[in-house]
Amino acid sequence: MLRKPFIAGNWKMNMTAESGAKLIKELAPLVKDANCNVALCVPAILIPAMTQAAKGTNIAIGAENVHWADKGAYTGEISCEQLKEYGVKYAIIGHSERRQYFGETDESVNMRTLAALKNGITPIVCVGETLSEREGGITEKVLDKQLAEGLKGVENVADVVIAYEPVWAIGTGKTATDEQAQETIAYIRKKIGQLFCPKCAEKVIIQYGGSMNAANCKGLMAQSDIDGGLIGGASLKLDFATIVNFDK
Ligand code: 13P
Repeated sequence: MLRKPFIAGNWKMNMTAESGAKLIKELAPLVKDANCNVALCVPAILIPAMTQAAKGTNIAIGAENVHWADKGAYTGEISCEQLKEYGVKYAIIGHSERRQYFGETDESVNMRTLAALKNGITPIVCVGETLSEREGGITEKVLDKQLAEGLKGVENVADVVIAYEPVWAIGTGKTATDEQAQETIAYIRKKIGQLFCPKCAEKVIIQYGGSMNAANCKGLMAQSDIDGGLIGGASLKLDFATIVNFDK
């Protein structure tokens, strides 16, 4: 298999130590025979308890963000070293909610991405257009900039996971159609081929995110360029296991 599918949850600012551990305990037997890589990206404060809850399972725990500096005066931020202490394997970077509400830019996305790679944490770099950008016909232009600037200086692009999350599909219940998601993700792969090399682009895992759920995951995952999903709302319940088992 050239690219092993990768289904990841993004809990956003949801769950507690108690409800999170309960969910992981319930999910573990349901996802244990998955043919894909499985992760749950959780709020930083829950990372110690969730790594404990996921011990001995095939569920990896990820972070929802990571800072670029090794340490220092960055109140409220979390470093790679701090994440690594708990065995964190993945960090979501540049989620549209971070871009929209917390001033995240392509430049800060780039710094965070390079820091994660340097520390052996796989960055899940989020890209995607807003509704007005799609309607204005500039989706490709927006993605070009996010990819070129966000991935600047990356040595081995196959070490990065890309999540294509059209902003208009996030938390809205309005999923991109299978064809829309495939077409845009194929474009992202082509662009990565141009920025790096076509062969490397073939190795990059590209997820779809945006109202992906137990009902629509099969159709999306059947698309040739869609290698996985970044799941928000549906990762807060047992539906996440149905998505992980999309191929069964
Ligand atoms: P929803 O699945 O809730 O639409 O969220 C998608 C998302 O933003 C994952 O990062």
